[in-house]
Amino acid sequence: MTPAPTPCSEELFDRARAVTPGGVNSPVRAFNAVGGTPRFIASARGPWLTDVDGNEYVDLICSWGPMLLGHAHPEVVAAVQAAVARGTSYGTPTEGEVTLVEEIIGRTPVEKVRLVSSGTEATMSAIRLARGFTGRDVVVKFAGCYHGHLDALLASAGSGLTTFSIPGTPGVPASSTALTLVLPYNDRAAVEAAFAEHGDRIACLITEAAPGNMGVVPPEPGFNAFLAETCRRHGALFVSDEVMTGFRVSRSGQWGTDGAVEGWRPDLVTFGKVMGGGLPAAAFGGRADVMAALAPDGPVYQAGTLSGNPIATAAGLATLRLATPDVYDHLAAVADTLRAGVADAFTAAGVPHVIQSTGSMFSVFLTDEPVRDFAGASRTDVAAYGAFFHAMLDRGVHLPPSAFEAWFVSAAHDDRAVQTVLDALPAAAEAAGSRQARPANGES
Ligand SMILES: Cc1ncc(COP(=O)(O)O)c(C=O)c1O
Repeated sequence: MTPAPTPCSEELFDRARAVTPGGVNSPVRAFNAVGGTPRFIASARGPWLTDVDGNEYVDLICSWGPMLLGHAHPEVVAAVQAAVARGTSYGTPTEGEVTLVEEIIGRTPVEKVRLVSSGTEATMSAIRLARGFTGRDVVVKFAGCYHGHLDALLASAGSGLTTFSIPGTPGVPASSTALTLVLPYNDRAAVEAAFAEHGDRIACLITEAAPGNMGVVPPEPGFNAFLAETCRRHGALFVSDEVMTGFRVSRSGQWGTDGAVEGWRPDLVTFGKVMGGGLPAAAFGGRADVMAALAPDGPVYQAGTLSGNPIATAAGLATLRLATPDVYDHLAAVADTLRAGVADAFTAAGVPHVIQSTGSMFSVFLTDEPVRDFAGASRTDVAAYGAFFHAMLDRGVHLPPSAFEAWFVSAAHDDRAVQTVLDALPAAAEAAGSRQARPANGES
């Protein structure tokens, strides 16, 4: 009997759209920002994705950050297989959870950690804890920083700097964002004004330790230290969201790159992505006295059926243990080569561009001015990016399907993968040049 033919990406996308909104389980995967059909991936190994049609792509998404070591790393696979064989979930404590938390504490400025299953759960729990610990309600965040899809943070700025925000999406009640202040990133004056007016009501300020969700927009020197100090002065907690940057931009995360130098210390930190090694694991942690307010030690409730799942903790632990200094040196070298190639290609094609980085995470803004906040990021030429994206895809390179995302590399990106990207760049930059258009505007 001949086997049934494997369906192609187009057929799968049609089937998916019939049963799932947009045909995807997380919106950016639908290619709405770049047009066309998402590639349905059949397998992945090292730096390569293989789609159901048999096409290979160099992966510059890396599952949006987690795949620090590349796909199907043999030691991570072995750790997962061994864990699965011992049973998939017990709902009781395990040694793996303790060891993973010890590993996190050993690398980062946190004293106690609670494991959860997604970055959203981590930030949601950290905010509840900050509110419970301080007895205050107001939360401050920055426009363009994404912390997951919890109601309180799906917020858009109100009409003035110190006015409370409005829901960022239908489905979020105004009451859920009425205690959220949304400020422009890297803007010290806005932070001063917000704390001057509302300081005694602010439970916490949450920020991406180095934003990657409006493209990469690094904190200006001293900005995180300024935020930590402002929070301290007003009795608010400084929550550093390292879901994306943690264990990726350095052995510890952004804190390891500027915190140790500038002397800032978060009160709470959220983690995810790399620490789960590609499985659903995330965490929040911080000062022991703050974490002591969490149930069962304290009154702030938080729980999870699959928190500390043994398979996810095995994948995370294997990944963190393999993330040695050599890995970060390799990521830095790969990112340097790619950034230089991108800059050369866009310069040759006469396309204005700005490349911004934190560690090996970087993004390419098709604009002519450095980007320091969301308004600046919004000036990138999205039509040109769409043309660039598809030209790269046609040449075997899978970039993030949105102009406002970071590009990720892995320890498995070898010379062949890097050369494939470099070879694709000149024609793709030309394609971007031929599609330059008016910039997008405003927060969506
Ligand atoms: C900085 C940051 N925080 C939180 C989240 C939410 O994590 P998750 O998608 O696992 O819920 C993300 C996801 O991209 C993120 O980048």
